[in-house]
This record gives sequence, structure tokens and C-alpha cells, in this order.
Amino acid sequence: MFFISPRIVSLVPMKIVEQIKQPIVDEMELFERKFRDSMLSKVALLNRITHYIVNRKGKQMRPMFVFLTAKMISDGTVNERTYRGAAVIELIHTATLVHDDVVDDSNKRRGFFSINALWKNKIAVLVGDYLLSKGLLLSIDNNDFDLLKIISVAVREMSEGELLQIEKARRLDITEDVYYEIIRQKTATLIAACCSLGACAVNPDDAEVIERMRKFGELIGMAFQIKDDLFDYTDDAIGKPTGIDIKEQKMTLPLIHALNNCSSKEKSWCINSIKNHNKDKKRVREVIQFVKDKNGLTYAEQKMVQFQQEALQLIQNFPDSPYKNSLVLMVNYVIERKI
Ligand code: IPE
Ligand code: IPE
Ligand code: MG
Ligand code: MG
Repeated sequence: MFFISPRIVSLVPMKIVEQIKQPIVDEMELFERKFRDSMLSKVALLNRITHYIVNRKGKQMRPMFVFLTAKMISDGTVNERTYRGAAVIELIHTATLVHDDVVDDSNKRRGFFSINALWKNKIAVLVGDYLLSKGLLLSIDNNDFDLLKIISVAVREMSEGELLQIEKARRLDITEDVYYEIIRQKTATLIAACCSLGACAVNPDDAEVIERMRKFGELIGMAFQIKDDLFDYTDDAIGKPTGIDIKEQKMTLPLIHALNNCSSKEKSWCINSIKNHNKDKKRVREVIQFVKDKNGLTYAEQKMVQFQQEALQLIQNFPDSPYKNSLVLMVNYVIERKI
């Protein structure tokens, strides 16, 4: 792997993110150290790979959600449980990305080669399992069982969501409601876990706030995945391949909307293209254009904004604070981000 430069890379546009991070700068710094240390192993190959992973960090939105929620509801306090919770969530997120690139046969992540592209599928599967178990152990070893419950529910739902997606991709008959169920399970539950865990770590007895923040995270997680699915219809440099959903026969909201709003002839053409010509680049481009012509992207954008607005309503009654302010900025960043 000597041809990969070891420099630390960040694809994140700095300004707005820096502003969001301002009230949690110290926490994020300490978090990064704990996150890095939490991966250490006695096996040299694992250390080489996890080193590669942490040097190409992502947007770290999940730990940001954990700290901002915790500080918003507790007047600015965090504790060791908050740090551990943030590290567990980012470990699990990282594990699912490593596995996701195997499942999606994707060779790029965060602007670099994916783990499966560099070390092959079998190693990527095992590294993902290792990261997942390290995450769960971090909670168990510290008796954070309430947090572990939140996290384990998310892990179960994410696996179910991914399998539901595969089941539906095979039959190409996915409805809008099934799409929402898939993205709720595979993506929104982990962001929901960030926010409920952030609340639970500092205030374990306030069930009402924990549930409110879970719902907030779930709604924003829905908007987050719709945004991710919209990226797939662009040629933007987002650090991972675009245009692969159709290739993988994955039906997302823009396409679902197009199929619900076309003639039966157009529908047969589109389904046939996805079923039998999904590796034909020209045909895939035609399907993308068809989706655009049927306003699939505009429709998905509208739905994304609806979820985002619903999320915002859930936090509007908390007293104003720099943390709440950042959380609102985060909610906007989710739908305006460029990567
Ligand atoms: C990517 O998540 C996976 C999805 C749930 C869409 P992020 O976009 O948060 O990934 P990183 O951590 O910033 O790379
Ligand atoms: C999101 O799935 C990853 C998980 C929730 C496990 P995608 O396959 O849609 O995400 P990207 O676009 O590869 O990051
Ligand atoms: Mg996937
Ligand atoms: Mg993927």
C-alpha cells in the first residue's frame, strides 16, 4: 500500500463546519484521540488498516450530534459516558461503511480507495467486524448498558435495512413507503441513536427528552439519506462514486417518483434498462436523464426539506444556547452540504 500518501486528508469544506464545531471544539479534539486509541490491536495488519482509516476521516457528523445534543440539554456539560458513546457510534459508523463498500462493490470512499479495493473483500469484512466488536466492548467494559441498548437497536435496524434494500432491489417493485422504511432503518436509526444517546449519557432519567431527541435524529437522518441519494444523480466530486445506485439496481426516491409519474411504456423501458442494461453506461445515463425529466430530483428535494423542517420543530422549544444554535446549523448543513 506504499503508493498511498499518508498525509491526513479532509474533504470537508471548513467554514460552516468550523462554525458548527465552535461550541464543541475541545470535546471533538478529545473524542478524536479516544476514537483513534479505541481501534488499537496487537495485530500489525489491523493497525495498518485502522491507521489508514483514521487518517481519512469523514465529516464526523455523528459525534457532533452526540456532543451538541448532550450540551444543549444539560447547559453545556458532558461526561465520560458522552465521550465513550460518541466513540462507539463513530466506530459502528466506520464498520458499516467498510462493509457497505463490500456490499455495494464500491472502490472509493472519502476520496481514496476503499478498504475492499486495497485489501480485498475478505479483509474488509473482518475489519468491519473488528470495529463493530470494539465499539460494543467499549460500552460493555464501562457498564454503559443503557447506551449499549440504544446502540444495539441501531445496529440491528441497520442490518435489517440493508437486507430489505437488497430484497427490494431484486424485485424492483419498491414503493415510496418502503423506501422511507429502508432509509429509516439503514441510516436514520444511527443518527437517532446519536441524539438519544447524547441525551441519555448526561440525563438518563429524562425519558421524554431522550425520546424527543431520538425522533429529532431520526427525521434528520431521513433528510441525510435523501441528500446522499440525490448526490448519486450528480457528477459532483463527493469522494465516493456517483451513478452507482442504478448500476447496483438500487431504487431511490428520485427514481421511484419518476416511475410513479410516467406512462406504462416508459415504465417498462425504465425497468428493463435497470434489470437488463444496468452495466451499459449510455443506458444508465438515459435513465438518469429520464428521472430528471420526470422531476424526480425536485420531488426528492422537497421531501428532504419536509423531514428537515419537522426535525427543526422538535428542538425549537429548548432555550437558546450556542449548542442549540449549532444544532440548527447542523440541520441545515445536512441538506446543503457538498459532500
Ligand atoms: C455516509 O455517511 C453513509 C450514509 C449513511 C449515507 P457520511 O456521509 O456521514 O460519511 P462520512 O463519515 O462523512 O464519510
Ligand atoms: C449508506 O448506504 C451506508 C449505510 C447506512 C450502511 P449507501 O450505500 O447509500 O451509502 P454510500 O453512498 O455508499 O455512502
Ligand atoms: Mg449501500
Ligand atoms: Mg454504498
